[in-house]
Amino acid sequence: MADNDKVFAGSIPKFYDTLMVPLIFGAYAADMAELVAAFSPASVLETAAGSGVVTRALAPKLGADARYVVTDLNQPMLDYAAIRQGADGRIEWQQADALDLPFEDASFDVVCCQFGAMFFPDRVAGYTEARRVLKPGGRFVFSVWDRIEENAFADEVTNAVAALFPHDPPRFLARTPHGYHDIALIREELSRAGFTGIEVETREKLSRAASARDAATAYCQGTPLRNEIEARDAGLLQLATDRATQAIASRHGEGPVAGKIQAHVIVAAG
Ligand SMILES: C[S@@+](CC[C@H](N)C(=O)[O-])C[C@H]1O[C@@H](n2cnc3c(N)ncnc32)[C@H](O)[C@@H]1O
Repeated sequence: MADNDKVFAGSIPKFYDTLMVPLIFGAYAADMAELVAAFSPASVLETAAGSGVVTRALAPKLGADARYVVTDLNQPMLDYAAIRQGADGRIEWQQADALDLPFEDASFDVVCCQFGAMFFPDRVAGYTEARRVLKPGGRFVFSVWDRIEENAFADEVTNAVAALFPHDPPRFLARTPHGYHDIALIREELSRAGFTGIEVETREKLSRAASARDAATAYCQGTPLRNEIEARDAGLLQLATDRATQAIASRHGEGPVAGKIQAHVIVAAG
């Protein structure tokens, strides 16, 4: 993973939340909230919470006395999430690296993490931390994207932007969000961290946007792909977005557009 892949700052939190979240994260967040709430946890730790889409779905499902600690590596994402959430005395917002959690052993009934593990530079270390802070019998619930070819818009945007930089194609989407989809590897790394009773479900959904341009803008400007394009030539961000728009429109029309997305949802018992 490149250093910039984990930088969700500057304009990214706003574009991420307003464009990416409705496009691909919202539907999976509703599922994750259901899964976590089904354990009736008294205490939940969320890692890599981003702009808070899972937090908004899960908080209403937790008990009145529940403790819900919401964390992310990037403070700007957490700031955005906290403002959108509004006042809720059960929620503690805290900047934290999922690989080095500032919590006591055996503190939580559930640790959840939606589409964050792909960003961990050392997955076994991240899983070991999740397991350390879980109470005996606790659950680690998390999700990762399937391979990029199973995720239509991400694949089309990546190919379109690559054509603009043929000698040094920006590969963020393939390398990081869609770079950790091997179920056997996920199981092995969870086992190495001490988890047992690992359940993996692959879920397909439809990603919808009002227009091909909205979908392209989400990927090109609301993710660290933006950092990669700007590092090559900041003046080409708009052209890259235009090319990605054309690529999506050529397959799905100008809009409204719908494309396949697919992810693995994992529940691991400590
Ligand atoms: C694709 S976003 C997912 C955010 C949110 N869970 C969602 O579903 O919208 C990935 C998030 O991982 C965070 N992240 C990256 N590396 C991290 C780490 N080592 N520890 C905690 N969070 C991390 C980023 O700041 C970003 O908010």
